[in-house]
Amino acid sequence: DQNLKKFPKDFLWGASTSAYQVEGANHEDGKGDSCQDVKELPKGTAPLDVCADHYHHYREDIQLMAEMGFKTYRFSIAWTRILPNGIGDVNQKGIDHYNDVINTCLQYNIEPLVTMFHFDMPNALDEKGSWSNPESVDWFENYARVLFENFGDRVKYWLTINEQNMLTLVGPMIGTLRIPEGTKNVVKETYQQNHHMLVAQAKAMVLCHQMCPSAKIGPAPNISLVYPASCKPEDILAAQEFNAIRNWLYLDMAVYGRYNNLVWRYLEEHDATPSFAPGDKEALAEAHPDFIGFNYYNTATVKRAGLDVKKDEHADQQKGLSEPGYCEAVDNPNLVKTQFGWEIDPLGFRATMREIYSRYHLPMIVTENGLGAYDKLEDGKVHDDYRIAYLKAHIEQVKLAITDGVEMMGYCPWSALDLVSTHEGIRKRYGFIYVDTSDEEVGSLKRYRKDSFYWYKKVIASNGEDL
Ligand code: BG6
Repeated sequence: DQNLKKFPKDFLWGASTSAYQVEGANHEDGKGDSCQDVKELPKGTAPLDVCADHYHHYREDIQLMAEMGFKTYRFSIAWTRILPNGIGDVNQKGIDHYNDVINTCLQYNIEPLVTMFHFDMPNALDEKGSWSNPESVDWFENYARVLFENFGDRVKYWLTINEQNMLTLVGPMIGTLRIPEGTKNVVKETYQQNHHMLVAQAKAMVLCHQMCPSAKIGPAPNISLVYPASCKPEDILAAQEFNAIRNWLYLDMAVYGRYNNLVWRYLEEHDATPSFAPGDKEALAEAHPDFIGFNYYNTATVKRAGLDVKKDEHADQQKGLSEPGYCEAVDNPNLVKTQFGWEIDPLGFRATMREIYSRYHLPMIVTENGLGAYDKLEDGKVHDDYRIAYLKAHIEQVKLAITDGVEMMGYCPWSALDLVSTHEGIRKRYGFIYVDTSDEEVGSLKRYRKDSFYWYKKVIASNGEDL
């Protein structure tokens, strides 16, 4: 369409992974255990000691990314490779590994976009109370300092905490966020942990600006606009409240350093307002992100509901999130679902981008978006036209959002290559690159280019014009 604006010349096309889901080798080269390494795995899912074995295949993988024309690669650093106990001694082999990952990216002119923390709390720190412990703020700041010292000369883009909102809303499903036994007020404990993470993030942003003045840093929550189930005024209020609880709390804190008033009211109602340590308020006010990273898979829809609403025990990042006393998650009858029951809503993506931008006016980068599906490898090929259709529909909406005046810096779908999902194994595949392995047994680990690989290559080569 002639009337659409073009993607900026330096638009960061790429894709994402996270350490615990892609690397494997979780006991090699001095790595300490993270909460993911010690959790009970959901039945029938691949163990995390191999995953896509990216730890040993990263050179080949980055070369394939370069072949697709990636301008950026979003990956996370495993805290426990750098500091096996979370604090204390630095593991030089971990530093060497990520130095090589970063240098390999740069060799291919791929900007590393580094997530500092993606669902993998060091187990040694979990045993000290995890994010419940007020010292967790210092643990994270110390880890951030080690990262900036070692990699800050080359990494220009940093992301703090992946999906802090999902850790808070569905932590146990993701295999993390421990609530100490005997906790009476779980909401209070959860939001105290959340508060520590927010302060930790703020301190990391300030430190980044001090130690690496030319680098940029931002948060990476999962932002899904919440729709009201109807135009009933009660549903509108419920959607506003759940938008605040699910989304805006995290961005208001990162950008403005203050609690969203609707969330504060929710916390007051639950006798769950967090305690502030001396200096927290100042740290939150001092920190500023340079951009907003966000993950988007689909929207959510809610109707007003009372205290009798139960939390869905199968709720995950993208479905069934209800809030007793506030709202109940309902299906959106206008949308179709993926094979794994996640709704598909490209237009909601544009609405989400518009809304974030109108609230914060910062440049934005999509740090995840994508389709999990059962892919089939046949004669060395994977015909994933459904993934191409999903991504095409979403990239079109990025173009429309840019035309709306939203400042978009980049697009990094999930995931660069197949990896283990949070709770549904490696049978739920997201990658452009197929990895030969399964939940049942470790395979050859050979890499295959899916149809979406060739398609994305063309998209990048045309800077988003040829979809
Ligand atoms: C996001 C996470 O919630 O969604 C990723 O940041 C995750 O770690 C991705 O893998 C897809 O979710 P799932 O549950 O299908 O793995």
